[in-house]
Amino acid sequence: MSARVLAATDPAAIREAAAVLRRGGLVAFPTETVYGLGADAFNPIAVARVFEVKARPSFDPLIVHLADASGLHRVSRSDDPRVGSLAARFWPGPLTLVLPRRPEVPDLVTSGLETVAVRIPAHPAARALIAAAGTPVAAPSANPFGYVSPTTAAHVAELLGASVDLVLDGGPCAVGVESTILSLADDPPVILRPGGVPREALEEALGVSLDVAGPAERPVAPGQLQKHYATRTPLLVLPGKAGPSPRGRVGLLAWSGESPDGYAAVEVLSPDGAKETAAARLFAALRRLDAAGLDRILAEPCDEAGLGHAIMDRLRRAAARG
Ligand code: TXA
Ligand code: MG
Repeated sequence: MSARVLAATDPAAIREAAAVLRRGGLVAFPTETVYGLGADAFNPIAVARVFEVKARPSFDPLIVHLADASGLHRVSRSDDPRVGSLAARFWPGPLTLVLPRRPEVPDLVTSGLETVAVRIPAHPAARALIAAAGTPVAAPSANPFGYVSPTTAAHVAELLGASVDLVLDGGPCAVGVESTILSLADDPPVILRPGGVPREALEEALGVSLDVAGPAERPVAPGQLQKHYATRTPLLVLPGKAGPSPRGRVGLLAWSGESPDGYAAVEVLSPDGAKETAAARLFAALRRLDAAGLDRILAEPCDEAGLGHAIMDRLRRAAARG
């Protein structure tokens, strides 16, 4: 069965989606980063369905999404002054903060951790939905565990089908890579996952330099799982610009410009050279290459300044096998 998809710009669709959440259903919704698979964060049965639909291990906790900062006290007892200044600068937007949690947040949401991950998405449909539902919304990316995250409603419908009650279509995601996860529960604070807010911007806001947590097998912060965002087709990140195609049906994820000869399929990530463009196109391009019946995919690298950090993180993890 196919998923029910409604336009996110329709106020009636938002009302209906909010009602689905309130009665314990699952709604896939657009955010500026990727599409999320949402459930009422205070309804453990609804949250359990999220894990089931995604085939996600229960040790991987979910991000709780709020409509605005006034909802923060419902999930966290933090009185950390850094939250206010980071919120003022980066919320709504692609930043997730890991904070001490309130005991009322179900263990399934936090995987039993003493912390909760929180963010306020910038997409107007996401905020309208959360506000109308009147409850914080726990939402992972709306993809089967380990696979490339969805950046359009069609991706969600294709991947999860009728196992979600409703899909809100808000168009392609503008940022295209997930939120940056910053743990303020660690001292000093640490970046658990590079994402839409560059490390440099956080360092400037906090006035400190930030460490980035390394990959781990069974992490405290499971977004660090080494093999993630994986294509089904083997993928290799090249050390530099691609040469002519090796033998076989090889696909190329090119950074920009003229691509060399002989590839069975080529996706150009950034025709204008901007990393923002590349991030926004990354997951859709990976999906198209993955669907092209290739023997393997070669990916050109970019430098790791700004959004390049998140892009290279996703490519390296897509390349990790086993
Ligand atoms: O951009 C995003 O963050 C998207 C959209 C939908 O908001 N969501 C997203 O969720 O990427 P997900 O579930 O695919 O990744 C969330 C990551 C998990 O890998 C988990 O490890 C980490 O957030 N996380 C959640 N709660 C945590 C906590 N209390 N401590 C450390 N890490 C946590
Ligand atoms: Mg995910």
